[in-house]
Amino acid sequence: MAVTINLKDPALLDALAAKTASAGGLLRCAAGEFSPAVFANSLGAEDMVLTDLIVGEKLPIEIFSLDTGRLPPETYDLIAAVKAHYGLTLKLYYPRHELVEGYTRQNGINAFYESVELRKGCCHVRKVEPLQRALAGKKAWITGLRAQQSATREGLPVHAFDAGNGLEKFNPLADWSEKEVWAYIKLNGVPYNALHDRFYPSIGCAPCTRAITPGEDIRSGRWWWENADTKECGLHLKATP
Ligand code: ADX
Ligand code: SF4
Repeated sequence: MAVTINLKDPALLDALAAKTASAGGLLRCAAGEFSPAVFANSLGAEDMVLTDLIVGEKLPIEIFSLDTGRLPPETYDLIAAVKAHYGLTLKLYYPRHELVEGYTRQNGINAFYESVELRKGCCHVRKVEPLQRALAGKKAWITGLRAQQSATREGLPVHAFDAGNGLEKFNPLADWSEKEVWAYIKLNGVPYNALHDRFYPSIGCAPCTRAITPGEDIRSGRWWWENADTKECGLHLKATP
């Protein structure tokens, strides 16, 4: 983890208790009023907090992950750890093989380094198209997005209609700080990705994620060869908060 926290700090504990209660309320609202609701779990630190809350309250929310085929081994280890810790089998969605075959045949196996367009094309085939299948027929989806993660996520609401995908979108941790996320994980013994302890605050696909140096922006290790304003994969568009 990239932050230093004092787990006995009363201000931190008070804020965490209030935010945990509010996140729980949002999850119950999604599950109760917008059924069927699903949670998109990237296995990042925020998503492990939400997994713990959903499983802890036994909420009827299906939890899925998009397995792009290029995830780091540590993320696959965490999928197994989630099963061991919670008895939870994540529902995995895979890219359509004919789309991956077409993309790599035409562009090459690591074409995402060559241009923003080719990178977004890879994200579309490996993440966005599977996400569309995961959301089909659902009334709400839940994400672990936080407003403080990047400039592109500033002003993120906790709940809004996602016009792009045609369903409600809940971001129960929208107003959480990185410290609050890690305090929750440590206080509740939540399993997390081993890469977080090796200076990877934000983790996506292996070829598109690297470690950062302390003090750098938390998403600077994602698509590090691109400008900050292009660093979204298409799962979360600004027009669809
Ligand atoms: S990304 O758009 O840059 O890849 P990020 O890694 O910050 O997103 O994750 C933000 C949220 O998007 C996660 O909390 C999760 O809800 C969703 N998400 C991202 N990647 C995945 C994935 N592979 N599987 C499921 N959900 C994902
Ligand atoms: Fe492809 Fe990289 Fe996007 Fe993963 S993050 S889908 S490897 S471009």
